[in-house]
Amino acid sequence: MYSALYRRLRPKRFEDIIGQPHIVRTLRNQIMKGKASHAYLFNGTRGTGKTTSALVFAKAINCETPENGEPCLTCAACDAIGRGAGFNVIEIDAASNNGVDNIRDIREEVKYPPAHGKYKVYIIDEAHMLSTSAFNALLKTLEEPPKGVIFILATTDPQKIPATVHSRCQRFDFKRISSEVMSAAITGYLKDEGIEAGSEAVSYVTRISDGSMRDALSILDQCAAFYMDEEITIEKIMSITGAAGNEVSSALLTALSENNAPECIQIIDTVTKNGKDIHQFTNEFITFLRDSLIVLTTGNNAAKILDLSADNINKLKEGIKNISTTSLARCIAKFSELQQRMRFATTPRILFEITCVNICRGDRPRSPEPPTAPPNPTSQNYGINICNGDRPRSPEPPTAPPNPMTQIYDILNKK
Ligand SMILES: Nc1ncnc2c1ncn2[C@@H]1O[C@H](COP(=O)(O)OP(=O)(O)OP(=O)(O)O)[C@@H](O)[C@H]1O
Ligand SMILES: [Mg+2]
Ligand SMILES: [Zn+2]
Repeated sequence: MYSALYRRLRPKRFEDIIGQPHIVRTLRNQIMKGKASHAYLFNGTRGTGKTTSALVFAKAINCETPENGEPCLTCAACDAIGRGAGFNVIEIDAASNNGVDNIRDIREEVKYPPAHGKYKVYIIDEAHMLSTSAFNALLKTLEEPPKGVIFILATTDPQKIPATVHSRCQRFDFKRISSEVMSAAITGYLKDEGIEAGSEAVSYVTRISDGSMRDALSILDQCAAFYMDEEITIEKIMSITGAAGNEVSSALLTALSENNAPECIQIIDTVTKNGKDIHQFTNEFITFLRDSLIVLTTGNNAAKILDLSADNINKLKEGIKNISTTSLARCIAKFSELQQRMRFATTPRILFEITCVNICRGDRPRSPEPPTAPPNPTSQNYGINICNGDRPRSPEPPTAPPNPMTQIYDILNKK
C-alpha cells in the first residue's frame, strides 16, 4: 500500500528534525546526561515536528546503545518503536479519548513497569482537547509518575491547557519552519525520491505551507501523483491546490487600490463560483501581497529572496505597477487580521467582502469625534510602514457593528 510522503519521510533521528535546533539540542543533552524530565509539553502549529520529536525521544531514551543522545536505530528497542510495534510507546489521541475514564485507564496502566526497555512514554496528542475533569485526574500522575514513565503532551493550543498542567511540565515551543530551511530539506527529499521539481516550485510550496512541513510534503505528494513522471512546476502546484492564480490576486489588488468595491465583490464572486475555497484564496492572496511587497521594497534582490525566476518577478512587477508600499502593507495587515477572524466564522465569504469594502472606503473610523487617546505605536504597524514614514494610527473608536449585507448592497447599488 502507498504510504504518504510525509509519513515515509518522518525523521528517525534528532539530527533529521529540521528547524527546531533549540529543542533537539536540549532533548539530546537531557538523554545523554540521564536528566530527562518526567513530563513535557510540546507546543506549536501543525506539522512542525511535535509527534516526530516525541517518537524520536521515546526511541532514544529506550535505546540500548545510544550515540550522543541519538537512537542507534538498530537495537531491539529502536527497531520495535520504529516499526510502530513499540510496547513502550503509548500514543493517545485526546481528541477522541478526552474523558476522565480514559485518564483513569492510563493511571491504572502506569503502575506496571515497562515490559521491555527502560521507559514507558505516553504521548498525548491534541492534549488541549482533554476535559477539565480529565485534566484534574491527570494532575497527580503528571506530578509524580511512577519510575520509568514519561508523559509528553502535544498541543496546538497551549491557552487551553490549565496552568496546573503547564507548571508540571517542561514546555518546548515548536516554531514554524522557515521557508529557506524547509526548501533545503525538501530539495534533498525530492532528489532521493526521484521527483523532479525546480527550486522555484519548491520555494512556492514552502511559502504557501506557512511553516508546516506536513502541509508542504502533502502538496508535493499530491502533485507528484497527479502529474506522474513530469516535473513539478508552480502552475501544477496551483492547479492541484485549487489556487486561483496570480492574475486573480493582481486584479483584486488593483480593484482595492482603485477603491473599486463593486469590482472586488465581482472578483470574489467569480473565485467562489469557480469552486475555489475562500480560506485558501485568502492565504494565496496574502502570499501574493507579501511577494509583491518584497518586489517593491527590495528591487533586484527580490528574485533571490523569493527564489523566483526573472519572468515571474516581471509578472509580479507588472501587477503592482501603480501600487504603493503603504497600500500593500496596509492590505497585508487587513487580510492577515481577516485570516484570523475567518477561522471561527460561519460565513467567511461575507467577512472577506466586508474587508474589501472597508478598504475601498478608506477604512476610516466613521464616528464623529476622533479619538483622543495617545496613539499606540506598535499596534498594527508593520516594520515596512515605519520605514515608509507612515505615522502610527490612533486606535479606532468603537462604532456600532456594520450590517454586512446592507454595506454590500449599498456598494453594489452605487455601481
Ligand atoms: N521539524 C521537522 N523536520 C522534518 N520533518 C518534519 C518536521 N516537522 C514535521 N515534519 C514532517 O511532517 C510530518 C508530520 O510531523 P509531526 O507529526 O511531527 O507534526 P506535529 O507537529 O505533530 O503536527 P500536529 O500538530 O498536526 O500533530 C512528519 O512525518 C515529517 O514528515
Ligand atoms: Mg502530532
Ligand atoms: Zn537503539
